[in-house]
Amino acid sequence: MSEHTFLRGPADWWRQAVVYQVYPRSFADANGDGIGDLRGIINKVPYLAELGVDAIWLSPFFPSALADGGYDVDDYRNVDPRIGTLAEFDELVESLHSRGMRIFIDVVPNHSSDRHVWFQEALAAGRGSAARERYIFREGRGDSGEIRPSELISHFGPTAWTRVEDGQWYLHLFTKEQPDFNWDHPEVREDFLHTFKFWSDRGVDGYRIDVAHALVKDMTDPLPERDSYDVSVMKTDGSDRLFDRDEVHNIYASWRQLFNQYDPPRVAVAEAWVPANRRPAYASTNGLGQAFNFDLLVAPWQSQNFRDIIDYNVSEAHSAGSSTTWVLSNHDVIRHVTRYALPDGVDEHEWHRSGGVNPAPNLAVGAARARAATALILALPGSTYLYQGEELGLPEPIVPDEHIQDPQWIRTDGELKSRDGCRVPLPWEATGPSFGFGSGESHLPQPAWFANYAVDVQSDSESSTLNFYRRALRERKRLLTEDTLEWKDSPQGVMHFVRPNGWACITNFTGAPFALPEGDVVLLSSPLVGGKLPVNATAWVLTAS
Ligand code: GLC
Repeated sequence: MSEHTFLRGPADWWRQAVVYQVYPRSFADANGDGIGDLRGIINKVPYLAELGVDAIWLSPFFPSALADGGYDVDDYRNVDPRIGTLAEFDELVESLHSRGMRIFIDVVPNHSSDRHVWFQEALAAGRGSAARERYIFREGRGDSGEIRPSELISHFGPTAWTRVEDGQWYLHLFTKEQPDFNWDHPEVREDFLHTFKFWSDRGVDGYRIDVAHALVKDMTDPLPERDSYDVSVMKTDGSDRLFDRDEVHNIYASWRQLFNQYDPPRVAVAEAWVPANRRPAYASTNGLGQAFNFDLLVAPWQSQNFRDIIDYNVSEAHSAGSSTTWVLSNHDVIRHVTRYALPDGVDEHEWHRSGGVNPAPNLAVGAARARAATALILALPGSTYLYQGEELGLPEPIVPDEHIQDPQWIRTDGELKSRDGCRVPLPWEATGPSFGFGSGESHLPQPAWFANYAVDVQSDSESSTLNFYRRALRERKRLLTEDTLEWKDSPQGVMHFVRPNGWACITNFTGAPFALPEGDVVLLSSPLVGGKLPVNATAWVLTAS
């Protein structure tokens, strides 16, 4: 595999990697059953290689009843038969590795599904049994325990407690089909080490750790109560009852010991929605090694804002011995073309409730900003996580109510937006029953306008977003250098930084075109206008270093 000389060694491959997130059920369907599969991904490995990404991250592909899109895992060491087989998984790993690409998989340690063999055992074994100790069962309140143990909402509805037949209640921070594990239990700890060994032995290079801040909870009496999961109500000193408790890092230290037994060491990135100052602990070299920085996912299009986020995250990651991560889209949020097409401050849930029309997205602005933002983050120190379909410039489709699968929408009676829009299967061809996704209909309906964004249409067009991504990734590989940056003086609203080798990145957040500095222009997110960088655009210029 090609390594860059500025990296300290092969173990550092992830520090500035471009990782492409594949949502397996919606990527490519090889057997025509409407659900994407591993064979579909294997068939598209040449596409990923041509795109130029360094690694893929596979969202869950494990057996699951799909109460939460696969984040309800029945069996952590297997493949959902609708998605493929372990032999196909091995083939995918081999195919990626042979082209110099790596693979991350998603591990969901906070909760299993209610179909997991341990939860089924816990239900059968009854109250007081050892089997119930692996989860969080409690007695209810009231004369006959009929009132839930505490006033605690779940992420997807009014309560985090569900009652079982014999009258006890169990905790689930997400859907009732996602019972939370008791991480004080040694068997839970051992089992996850076993899972990591299982996949690492199969050649998996890295792990994305789902809800990494939630594993350890203080479930002593009085039980925690809460009516919001907003990060702003979370305690910031490690003493929160449910999230980001300091003890969680003991778990990650034990995983790190296992990861370091491999050559190169396995890597991991934490999905931890914690206050920014709490991220370095997850990213530490004794812990997972890297933590998602989601700051740009919620940042308005404003230069000072972007600059503050960049400065903070680059230095915070360095202080942890890590590198930062840049993310503009993923399977939980509105695609960034549409986000940037809406006025700042729009409540996305309200917008979704309006059927995606109020306010109407300005897609021309959204598309320009999305490309500019992508070029900007690809020039930054750190690694970049791309989400499938963003290379096509896909806007967010609104999935009709009767097709919605997402528990976030279903279980809040439409109060919260559905995350299905960004999970609608990709258009590979302009024609066909599911635009080349498969030979039949896709599991979520695709709008007719997906045809305009299809891979085959874009491949033929020099000015397409797909070819822009290909160029950007190719240039990035060539220009990649030490993971630091220096800011250059620039007028208000113009962001200008340069990497140690003279690779300058200029983004125009102002309302007027801007004259670029001297040098070779190697990438433009939008064509120059009268020789100047237009508004909502980014340029890479190779300047004298
Ligand atoms: C993470 C996932 C999300 C899922 C939740 C529960 O936030 O990204 O899709 O619903 O965890 O597992």
